[in-house]
Amino acid sequence: MSLTLKKIAALASLLPFFGGLLDGVRVARADNPIVQTIYTADPAPMVYNDRLYVFTGHDEDGSTTYNMRDWHVYSTTDMANWQDHGSPLSLAQFSWANANAWAGQVVARNSKFYWYVPVRHTTGAMAVGVAVSDSITGPYRDALGKPLVENNEIDPTVYIDTDGQAYLYWGNPNLSYVELNSDMTSYSGSIVKVDLTTAGFGTRSGNAQRPTTFEEGPWLYKRNSLYYMIYAADCCSEDIRYSTGPSATGPWTYRGVIMPAQGKSFTNHPGIIDYKGNSYFFYHNGALPGGSGYTRSVSVERFTYNSDGTIPSFNMTTGGPPQLGTLDPFARQEAETIAFSSGLKTEVCSEGGIDVSFIDNGDYIKVKGVAFGNGAKTFTARVASATSGGKIELRLGNQEGNLIGTCTVPGTGGWQTWTTVTCSVSGATGTQDLFFRFTGGSGELFNFNWWQFTA
Ligand SMILES: *[C@@H]1O[C@H](CO)[C@@H](O)[C@H](O)[C@H]1NC(C)=O
Ligand SMILES: *[C@@H]1O[C@H](CO)[C@@H](O)[C@H](O)[C@H]1NC(C)=O
Repeated sequence: MSLTLKKIAALASLLPFFGGLLDGVRVARADNPIVQTIYTADPAPMVYNDRLYVFTGHDEDGSTTYNMRDWHVYSTTDMANWQDHGSPLSLAQFSWANANAWAGQVVARNSKFYWYVPVRHTTGAMAVGVAVSDSITGPYRDALGKPLVENNEIDPTVYIDTDGQAYLYWGNPNLSYVELNSDMTSYSGSIVKVDLTTAGFGTRSGNAQRPTTFEEGPWLYKRNSLYYMIYAADCCSEDIRYSTGPSATGPWTYRGVIMPAQGKSFTNHPGIIDYKGNSYFFYHNGALPGGSGYTRSVSVERFTYNSDGTIPSFNMTTGGPPQLGTLDPFARQEAETIAFSSGLKTEVCSEGGIDVSFIDNGDYIKVKGVAFGNGAKTFTARVASATSGGKIELRLGNQEGNLIGTCTVPGTGGWQTWTTVTCSVSGATGTQDLFFRFTGGSGELFNFNWWQFTA
């Protein structure tokens, strides 16, 4: 478990004693970063079957250098509540690699999902490997048993052009690409090194070794026949810049800064995607408690392209994008579908999927934009406790807000010995931010798998 985050949660639970001063902070609860149960980095978004997935790296709690061993995946349908799908890929899948689970990207093809990742070869050089799965949420397995490409550089991005040709770009400090074959695990021709000109990638001042601003983290895509190369630039601290071109191989024209260097992490990493008619920009910073350049968190902003296809410059925010639609409390919802939380972890659940774990007194989950309509009558939760359980308080607006019901969770004899508890609810109407506030004695109280209201 996370000592760092748990300690921070304990401190956060004292905040209500500061009274009115913090009420405003609680009411205006931020939704960035999108994950609070672990530190996440290097977001790679992808839309599949009307859901938006984001694949991330994972900074271990308390890290003071890059300590990254696995990757994680989250998904949403409303840009506010994010479901945790756990870790479907780790270094352990790559028998030939021993460290550095760094920035990757997933693409779909041939009814399969391919996850391109940089890892450290046991020889010591950084290489790009590829893992494959029949399911977007994994598990993924090493597709090749060896590197796909290896030149001691990192940060793969893959784009499948409309003519079917796939390109794999990667690099730091150079930028290279290969043309992938349609099997997505081999390539034709040789590695092409991009000529990083100041016209194509901007001028970096005061660094004769690196005259252009390109640093790392390329992200390639096409929109309205214009190709975009987005990248982390001008290290360090990095900002995010971009270039555009008439083909997937350029030539590239420098277009400027999208996101300035901000937010307590000296690196950043872009991922851009359109979803339900909006455009979203994913990045990372150090915005969680304990956050830094080695304990990063993924966030997202909504933006609008200018009419000429250029991308405006915008800042990091804590508010995040507006919610799309509402969440249905009368359908079964996973406890690990979270807009914001404090003090919690998630784990693999014996009933399938993921459950919320390491619940202590004062921890909470926010679920945003819950459409109660004419009202809810009962609340049911799937829970397990190896100790004597605790309570789930159902509150509206914030974690100290109006109490609409309280469910008592008993001891069940094990952390994965599940039972269903039900309690009555009153006063829940309309669309509300719902907070599960967990209370009980000291230490871990119970685990939480799913929930559902009746109308
Ligand atoms: C990569 O870039 C560095 C710094 O500009 C340069 O010294 C090196 O030769 C490049 N490596 C390759 C493989 O091009
Ligand atoms: C970003 O923040 C800077 C500094 O606070 C401010 O000057 C600028 O107007 C902001 N940009 C946008 C697009 O809000």
